[in-house]
Amino acid sequence: MSQLMNVVIQGAGRGIGLAMAHKAIESDANHLFLTARHPAATKGYADLPPGPNITWLALDNLEPDSIEKAGEQIRSQTDKLNRVICCSGVLKDGVIRPEKRLADIDAEALTYAYQVNATGPILLAKALLQALRGDHALCFTSISARVGSISDNQLGGWYAYRASKAAQNQLMRTLSIEMARYNPNACVATLHPGTVDTALSKPFQSHVPKGGLFTVENSANMLWSLLNRLTPKDSGGFFAYDGKPIPY
Ligand SMILES: NC(=O)c1ccc[n+]([C@@H]2O[C@H](COP(=O)([O-])OP(=O)(O)OC[C@H]3O[C@@H](n4cnc5c(N)ncnc54)[C@H](OP(=O)(O)O)[C@@H]3O)[C@@H](O)[C@H]2O)c1
Repeated sequence: MSQLMNVVIQGAGRGIGLAMAHKAIESDANHLFLTARHPAATKGYADLPPGPNITWLALDNLEPDSIEKAGEQIRSQTDKLNRVICCSGVLKDGVIRPEKRLADIDAEALTYAYQVNATGPILLAKALLQALRGDHALCFTSISARVGSISDNQLGGWYAYRASKAAQNQLMRTLSIEMARYNPNACVATLHPGTVDTALSKPFQSHVPKGGLFTVENSANMLWSLLNRLTPKDSGGFFAYDGKPIPY
């Protein structure tokens, strides 16, 4: 990777985002902009404290103003971003529980999943636009999930998560078309990280076939290597960790 690469990782306090931040450091990123809702309280902040090459920013996908403010702070420090990786996401917490049946549908949970999983990444793109424009190499990626594929949905359930990830995919696909006008060297893509051992997957790991659960390091290695291979020709795609396209 170029020594001059400027990288933003949304959701770098833990999980896959933190492992991606470690990959960026290993790859000699020029400057890392890392976000979390409460940065100083995260493992990421303890592992990779603020310094000349690392800036932490508070960002909550439920608060669009915080995304705009983080974007302004990043743009005040650089006019060129080379890699933006949106890693925030929610599947189950105090507001949302993966629905097993129609009777479990909850309007608040549907809206919440949409806000965290779909609007967060596209609002970040909007907030960063001035540093995405130009002709510099740019890879804007968002971590989606295979279950967000509409055509691959054979099992049902998980309405809010599936729908919010499908929305994320559509928002990124739409962004890829507009971004081609602003930066000919841009690739905008959504990525499936595999089933990864994080807090998000913890409640569901008993269903994972033996050998099917990746460590965060393993997933981040594969995703980082995929980012190194993606080109503007791949823009608008939805890819698994191994580079195989996933149908929408
Ligand atoms: N793990 C898997 O098996 C798996 C599979 C497919 C897809 N994914 C996707 O991979 C991405 C990363 O998930 P993970 O497995 O690393 O989960 P994780 O360890 O639970 O991390 C979740 C991340 O989402 C952030 N987040 C949650 N709510 C947020 C909000 N309101 N605003 C901003 N950030 C928020 C968290 O930030 P804070 O530190 O601020 O809480 C944290 O960085 C997600 O998009 C997830 O859907 C994961």
